[in-house]
Amino acid sequence: MDLQLVEPRPLVAADFVAARAVAEAWFGHPVGLTLHRLFFDQLGPGGVWIARADGSPAGFLLGMVSLSEPDLAYVHLHAVDPTLRGQGVGATLYRWFGEQAMAKGCTRIRALAAPQREGSIAFHRALAFDGPLVADYLGAGEDRIVFERSLPIL
Ligand SMILES: CC(C)(COP(=O)(O)OP(=O)(O)OC[C@H]1O[C@@H](n2cnc3c(N)ncnc32)[C@H](O)[C@@H]1OP(=O)(O)O)[C@@H](O)C(=O)NCCC(=O)NCCS
Repeated sequence: MDLQLVEPRPLVAADFVAARAVAEAWFGHPVGLTLHRLFFDQLGPGGVWIARADGSPAGFLLGMVSLSEPDLAYVHLHAVDPTLRGQGVGATLYRWFGEQAMAKGCTRIRALAAPQREGSIAFHRALAFDGPLVADYLGAGEDRIVFERSLPIL
């Protein structure tokens, strides 16, 4: 990655305001409370933040080591600035998150994708994730592909 980006670092609570400010534009749809402050304030060190050299956000990942499955690294959501896409920033978020999780004992990584989110599905498949489409996974009518793969992500 040679985009004049600062090296990835763990999320901190103060990143919430910057993430909230760009989230709807980056996702292209409302994200509501899926971008909840608790992921920054309480679970921040499990996530990843990448900034430009000037400090503006380039990408972020909200994730954690599962408490119920301690060998599992779980990605809640991640996003990259649209002007920086297709240059490996998303993959860097995942690889860095995976490395931190491996150091805590994780051997696999999971993420969900809605069947209509073609970009997210293509991203996960490009990173060799695979998994079933589970009907009503997040409630009635909310099907999700439950993507998973082993760590490390090379
Ligand atoms: C999904 C997202 C994070 C990808 O970020 P990115 O920085 O563009 O991804 P990368 O450049 O690291 O791409 C990694 C691989 O995925 C592929 N890929 C990424 N987005 C793709 C797309 N929309 N269509 C096809 N392939 C795609 C790349 O071609 C690359 O494959 P390669 O390694 O074979 O070259 C970004 O598009 C995004 O922020 N989307 C909106 C938010 C979102 O959908 N988040 C995921 C669900 S929470």
